[in-house]
Amino acid sequence: MPVVRAAIAQHAERFYGQKVDPDTEVLVTSGATEAVFAAILGLTDPGDEVIVFEPVYDSYVPNMIMAGVTPRYVPLRGDDWTFEPDELARACNSRTRAIIVNTPHNPTGKVYAREELAMIAELCREHDVIALTDEVYEHILYDGVSHNRLATLPGMSERTVTISSLGKTFSVTGWKIGWAIGPESLVNAVNQAHQFITFAVASPLQAAAATALALPFRFFTNLQATFQAKRDRMLGVLQKAGFKVLRPQGSYFIIADWRGVAPVHVEDDIQFAHWLTTEIGVACIPPSIFYQDSDKHLGKYLARFAVCKKDETLAAAAERLAKLRKF
Ligand SMILES: Cc1ncc(COP(=O)(O)O)c(C=O)c1O
Repeated sequence: MPVVRAAIAQHAERFYGQKVDPDTEVLVTSGATEAVFAAILGLTDPGDEVIVFEPVYDSYVPNMIMAGVTPRYVPLRGDDWTFEPDELARACNSRTRAIIVNTPHNPTGKVYAREELAMIAELCREHDVIALTDEVYEHILYDGVSHNRLATLPGMSERTVTISSLGKTFSVTGWKIGWAIGPESLVNAVNQAHQFITFAVASPLQAAAATALALPFRFFTNLQATFQAKRDRMLGVLQKAGFKVLRPQGSYFIIADWRGVAPVHVEDDIQFAHWLTTEIGVACIPPSIFYQDSDKHLGKYLARFAVCKKDETLAAAAERLAKLRKF
């Protein structure tokens, strides 16, 4: 619907000064999920390579496999999940078609710093590589951290497809209204795939999306304050329970090292997630699922918790996690 494309373009300008033509540079998709898949299908050819940072959000690699594309992994390391510029440079070769950047990042909560994005941008320009950004958590930020949009860095508007959606910002994950923004040639290629994946997205929800995207700044500030309170509360709960927590800068998630709290028979993150869910009554995600087989050990001692829950649910989780101290 033209009204939602206009609202997406206005939102991009209001928050990032990004100017896009709503008629030719915006595509509405069935959530960010479809936008990423349509971008990969529309912009790559079988045999191409696409770079992802690891741990990697779980839909990208299956999308690549379906498109006949080979993933190349660049690990994020350390408590602040940084990448080695040399490792990134080495992942790039003549077959590299695109790089996917998810910021704020699922599962780590990392928000890519402007300097990191500048390094990625330089690589994209040098090797003529497209950037696909997944920014679904763009408004869920903590401790005053700002979200930077790769497309707004010098030389990047012509080679970036910016993907986001309504789901996280407006707490309507089931609505599946997403979008891809970029130069006409790239968005047109994404549209060629979208045409034969879903064709169109529920129009009543598109109309509602236009209203939501135009809400005043107050809405976005309140959203951040609400999530900041939930994150702070759960950081405290997890720390008190004996986890070593890695402080997220954005997203819904907290990654925690469980070695201080698990009983001796628990040996890896899958066993820990199973044990915590069945014995303690709190579900978490085992982060090794976000790594390729040869890197799964990097997630072995971690657990991913989500804070996007009602306060009563977080209170119940706190009560149950307090039981861990006896271990
Ligand atoms: C990084 C990331 N991208 C995309 C999505 C899915 O977004 P949508 O609901 O708009 O398809 C999620 C949801 O979990 C996510 O965490």
